[in-house]
Amino acid sequence: MPRKPLIAANWKMHKTPAESIAFVEAFLPLVADDRRSDIVVCPPTISLSLVADALVGSNVAAGAKNMHYAEEGAFTGETSAAMLIAVGATYAILGHSERRQYFNETDETVNKKLHTALRHKLLPIVCVGELLSERESGSTGDVLVRQVSGALADIAPEQAAPIAIAYEPIWAIGTGKTATPEMAAQAHLLIRSEVARRLGRESADQMRILYGGSVKPENAASLLNQPEIDGALVGGASLKADSFAQIVKY
Ligand code: PGA
Repeated sequence: MPRKPLIAANWKMHKTPAESIAFVEAFLPLVADDRRSDIVVCPPTISLSLVADALVGSNVAAGAKNMHYAEEGAFTGETSAAMLIAVGATYAILGHSERRQYFNETDETVNKKLHTALRHKLLPIVCVGELLSERESGSTGDVLVRQVSGALADIAPEQAAPIAIAYEPIWAIGTGKTATPEMAAQAHLLIRSEVARRLGRESADQMRILYGGSVKPENAASLLNQPEIDGALVGGASLKADSFAQIVKY
């Protein structure tokens, strides 16, 4: 079974509710006939409910960009899986490098979040990726294996199907520098072999591994046509409806 591409927009901390809705209104007609990929937009939490409502009946899903691992409790400022689902989220990005860098997320918290997301049937997009210094010192492989195995700790093979992994080299995020398709494919192969080691070949062959890091309309096809690359997590170029639509239609 070929893996269906998954193209996700990560708006980060951009767009008010009104701007989010304006995007949806402009974007939906541009991709209405696309059946090739699963398409997701991940707006700021405050706009999630509105965006999810505006997407009902369309071929585009709504996702969260973060989620707490606890069911509920004294975690000021956080959002639970049940809350996200209640407002219409079906996906959740977990462990984005900006969360790891600025909000102290670790492989351990990402793993807890993954367990919670799966329990709630939220479709997780787990982010991994190396720093420039790690790539330059030749430790990319070690970093990816550590992050993938950390995220997947105590996940059973029968739980694996909903999980997607996004390979996002940190040096390529928001920098305009993109991993070459060959570099990305090599990292994806390594990630897939670590998934196979932990969860078995069948789970690894089914798992979607997305690339993220300065994906743009101009480079989307060369990346997404790599057999190892099963989709894209798009930041900057997902903020405009026409540019994200061009990526979807690579
Ligand atoms: P970028 O961000 O496309 O702006 O590089 C990607 C991401 O951080 O998910």
